[in-house]
Amino acid sequence: MRMIVRGARLLRGEGRTEGRTAGRTGGRFDVEVGEDGRIARVVPFDDQKEPPATGTLIEAHGALLSAPFVEPHIHLDTALTAGEPRPNASGTLWEGIARWSERKRTLTREDVIARATEVLRWQAAQGVLHVRTHCDTTDPSLTALDALLELRDRVRDFMTLQIVAFPQEGIVSFPDGEALLREAVRRGADVVGAIPHFEDTREDGVASLGIALALAEEHGLRVDAHCDEIDDDQSRFVEVLATLALRSGLRERVTASHTTAMGSYGGAYSFKLQRLLARSGINLVSNPFANLNLQGRFDAYPKRRGLTQVKEMLAAGVNVAFGHDDVMDPWNALGTANPLQTALVGLYAAQLTGADEIPEAFSMVTDRAAHVLGLDASEYGIAEGSPASFVLLPAETPTEAIRRQVRPRYVVSRGSVLAETPPAPTWLNWPPEGWGSGPTEVDFSRP
Ligand code: FE2
Repeated sequence: MRMIVRGARLLRGEGRTEGRTAGRTGGRFDVEVGEDGRIARVVPFDDQKEPPATGTLIEAHGALLSAPFVEPHIHLDTALTAGEPRPNASGTLWEGIARWSERKRTLTREDVIARATEVLRWQAAQGVLHVRTHCDTTDPSLTALDALLELRDRVRDFMTLQIVAFPQEGIVSFPDGEALLREAVRRGADVVGAIPHFEDTREDGVASLGIALALAEEHGLRVDAHCDEIDDDQSRFVEVLATLALRSGLRERVTASHTTAMGSYGGAYSFKLQRLLARSGINLVSNPFANLNLQGRFDAYPKRRGLTQVKEMLAAGVNVAFGHDDVMDPWNALGTANPLQTALVGLYAAQLTGADEIPEAFSMVTDRAAHVLGLDASEYGIAEGSPASFVLLPAETPTEAIRRQVRPRYVVSRGSVLAETPPAPTWLNWPPEGWGSGPTEVDFSRP
């Protein structure tokens, strides 16, 4: 036995073969990890039983053991460039694009690797072990792409990095956009991107999606398009993407990111769209930080919220995940790539605040995001035979993990401890009568 996690709380249904209810916790279990770095056994916890004498022992004391966090949408090539060469003074999308086009000219391999590595370190420390990053391919040198491909190999043993060939300035409307996209795929990108609403005309946008899906089919890849990331209620490329996904059979291998225009669609069209998206099997990724920040900028009051129809699409049976998107770049000066922060902001922005909806936000940065990346049981989940990759959260439930914004006590990747965060208690030195004697610990738990 290489490792045993004793007495961990699992999400209901995990460790067993039947399906589970998102975010609800079941009983306490021991999770035994074999020498091959996979979960060998999951057995009910017995506090009378002696722990094994060999292997790494982690006493969970009832803490929540979850499959690792999954980041379905980030831009590692632009990360940590905020303020370079100068800050985005207005904070708008358009000034962000202008700042990035200046910064893009100075990209080097070393520069991209250093910044992306640092964000991957932040992610690993917070239990994000599967990452889908977009990478701007509208750069004739493809410098950032080559750097991220190199990094994908460097982290392969403990993190999964999927790279989307993302044509930031268009496929059809940008000179050589299609050729650059094809070259990015030839060099090894995992996913084909698109940005139909940014193309010059509706027709160019439709054509760009056709090109992206055909390219994905040709190479057996997935598709993830920045789609309808605009407040314009006439931006309706998601219906095109869903229809192409359905007819090509690519279905759940296709993702529409952002789809913020959906926040402006009327009831009749939304109803039609919900049925189409559910039938098509495509995934949606909502990025609450970017969407709250960048959308609604042309509105007077009342001002739109900037997000897609998260609640409605979940209810319609569409897989929706939350992504962080930008981290300290021209579009978001803040961020630490923390998935529980994404879940917290996302659940407020989308009003997922019902008792059963809060745990759903947790699944949107774990299981649902894993589905976006196409991770199956051989790569993801707490079950016998799955890789021993998980986070031990100092909380009893997903809701508590989000509320207290905890950091994983342990992050384990393929049977090895990748990150460790010892408890850092806060002591209150002011004990009025009834508050206890002497300094008392405050951990924000309900008694
Ligand atoms: Fe994005």
